[in-house]
Amino acid sequence: MSRFPFGMPTGWYPVAWSDGVAAGETVPLRYFGSELVLYRGESGDAHVVDAFCPHLGAHLGHGGSVEGDTLRCPFHAWRFGADGICVEIPYAERIPPKARLRTFPVREQSGVVWAWYASDRSEPTWEPPRVVEFGAADWTPEWTRYEWTVRTHPQEVVENSVDWPHFHHVHAMEMPHYREVRFEGHEVIWKASTSKTLDDFEGRVDDIHVEGRNPGLGSSYVRYTGMMDTAILMGMTPIDDETTHLRFGVISKQGEAADPGSGFHQAYCDQLAAAVEQDFPIWENKTYHDKPLLSDGDGPVPDFRRWARQFYPAADR
Ligand code: FES
Ligand SMILES: [Fe+2]
Repeated sequence: MSRFPFGMPTGWYPVAWSDGVAAGETVPLRYFGSELVLYRGESGDAHVVDAFCPHLGAHLGHGGSVEGDTLRCPFHAWRFGADGICVEIPYAERIPPKARLRTFPVREQSGVVWAWYASDRSEPTWEPPRVVEFGAADWTPEWTRYEWTVRTHPQEVVENSVDWPHFHHVHAMEMPHYREVRFEGHEVIWKASTSKTLDDFEGRVDDIHVEGRNPGLGSSYVRYTGMMDTAILMGMTPIDDETTHLRFGVISKQGEAADPGSGFHQAYCDQLAAAVEQDFPIWENKTYHDKPLLSDGDGPVPDFRRWARQFYPAADR
């Protein structure tokens, strides 16, 4: 029995940083409760397919070779196209019609390779978020990155965004004096203004304004403006029903404070990442109350959960 009565939500999930897979390279992945392979074809396009060859079960991410945009199995050299269909069996006259790999829709956006997961295998109905600051001239060019594997579910991570009191009690911020949440289609958009005393910065008080959007439950795109103006992309990719791979990338608007050579950029990003880690002991050990007991000071948790239901196919609910 899973800790979370949800199943795996439909949506876009980061499966790699773009520079984590070179043309012609295969990368074994474990996401969505499955063994997968990410490979980049010689065209430059990234592909995500099921790892196990339908023939005798070899793992295509361990010794498989990329030829053009196709993938050849290391065991008996069957070769599969980017659409998953077997296009060659070097020693056979006929290709069995069922010889195909499951494929996942893939996009590359803002320095990240995204895969679309849907338990009913339906096609994407929206696109992964474009971080407009990524690649812009006055922003640091590369994500400053952090990654963790955490025993939690993406919905629990995103629920944090609308849980105002925890900002104070877990993250040592003041209770947000300004806050706003909107649910629009597949996005929840949230804003908060608060302040925080930074022990690592000689106790300076950081006045913070945060504007976040969560396109589905797989990622968060946040503009976090304080002593430094930053854009944050956080990915919440399910490894299985109870374990999530978190990716956290930060870029900052260039200026004196954000000059990567000054050390400030790194130190500020480190304290942002440390704030994410503050949630882990709660997430890893909490239970999920389907009918939580709420007070009038809580954030809009029931609205959030109603919004989140759209990411589970009716058959999974
Ligand atoms: S197991 Fe892949 S070709 Fe035989
Ligand atoms: Fe949190």
